[in-house]
Amino acid sequence: MTCPMHAFDPFDKGYLADPYAVYARLHADQPVFFSEELGYWVVSRYDDIKQVLRDAQSYASRNATDPFTPVSAETAAVFRAGGYAMQRVLLNADAPVHPRVRRNVAAAFTPQRVAQLAPRIEALVARTIAPIIALPVREVDIVQALTYALPAEVIFLLIGMDADDVPAIKAGSESRVVFTWGKPTAEQQVALAHDMVDFWQRAAAFVSKRVEEPRDDYTSDLIRLRNGDDAVLSLGEITSVVFGLLLAGHETTTGFLTNAIVQLLRDPARWQALAADPTGIPAAIEELLRLDTSVMAMRRVTTVDVTLGGQHIAAGSNILALIGAANHDPAHFVEPDFYDPTRSDARDHLSFGYGTHYCIGAPLARLEAQIVLRQLVQALPTAHGAPDQTMEYLPNTSFRGARSVRIRW
Ligand code: HEM
Repeated sequence: MTCPMHAFDPFDKGYLADPYAVYARLHADQPVFFSEELGYWVVSRYDDIKQVLRDAQSYASRNATDPFTPVSAETAAVFRAGGYAMQRVLLNADAPVHPRVRRNVAAAFTPQRVAQLAPRIEALVARTIAPIIALPVREVDIVQALTYALPAEVIFLLIGMDADDVPAIKAGSESRVVFTWGKPTAEQQVALAHDMVDFWQRAAAFVSKRVEEPRDDYTSDLIRLRNGDDAVLSLGEITSVVFGLLLAGHETTTGFLTNAIVQLLRDPARWQALAADPTGIPAAIEELLRLDTSVMAMRRVTTVDVTLGGQHIAAGSNILALIGAANHDPAHFVEPDFYDPTRSDARDHLSFGYGTHYCIGAPLARLEAQIVLRQLVQALPTAHGAPDQTMEYLPNTSFRGARSVRIRW
């Protein structure tokens, strides 16, 4: 089924830099095909991906965080020794666990909690942008200066973790991405497993601290909601939710903010339009989420035989749903590779998923993006990209965001 002319290598530098050229070929020639290299059926069309995401019974999520490199005995020993005990709770969980955990996690993630964060995010962004404006040279790596740490600082405010842990959690997140969504060698896998154990232990220690001393934060809300009853949420499940949020809550937003800035600065007129009229920012954000999202692919495993895009797929098969490709499907979006903030159907994008696993953090991500972009275009209305830069990406199937972007003004 694999066509050698269209060898699909999601870890290739060229693909990472511009996956959209590959997607255009897949849409035309191989919208659903089996990748021998990955051992996954790769799906790229909008309607097919929506069908996968909509039908959680036929397309389960239990493989969502399975590493592409099978866990070696040595890696498993590192996990055991470190007490690594991540449970399937949200992204990689199915019924009956997923609906129960999701109900509780969503109940505590109230619109009020998100709204309460707004003034704190405003202040945080202002504090982060002030030293950029004051720089003697009018050039900065905007990832390092703004988009890398900020989303983690925000998620720390939400869950109540101490900001001192931000550098360790950011570094640990990259290890988790490469471990789970990349293709590390056996040796690298062991090293990454040590980072994952460290990450897990931080999450577990933090949850234990909150059990002892609850505060006014999201983690304490989960513990209160649990009320000592494992049938509601066990402490292991709460730790796994926190462990999940400590990746999902910022790696995604770091990537998206970075991609958004890169796309806007491709044509400074886009940036200037938002500086002149910030009321256009929410629509621009939806179009940027469609155009260059940070979560490019999600995984599923079939529980029954299915037919997808005309292909028969047996029960127990792995599926890689290319969300970034769905967002660029010309059968759904007119001239999908163009930035058009007036596009009426931009919000049809699948960047936050669809159905039962729809992103819990979407309102927070949108809020953060609005605050960051508004403050940034107003602070640096003449910004443009520095010339001659090659953007690097972490080699993995799912999380996309340039690791360094120099801008000038
Ligand atoms: C621009 C930023 C973000 C993007 C593009 C994004 C994207 C996604 C996508 C595509 C899914 C669906 C996964 C699937 O169907 O398998 C998802 C789920 C999830 N997201 Fe986000 N996300 C973002 C920000 C956030 C934030 C800020 C948080 C936390 C506050 C968060 C927490 C979660 C969680 C917990 C899930 C799992 C939900 C479930 O399985 O029921 N995300 N996200």
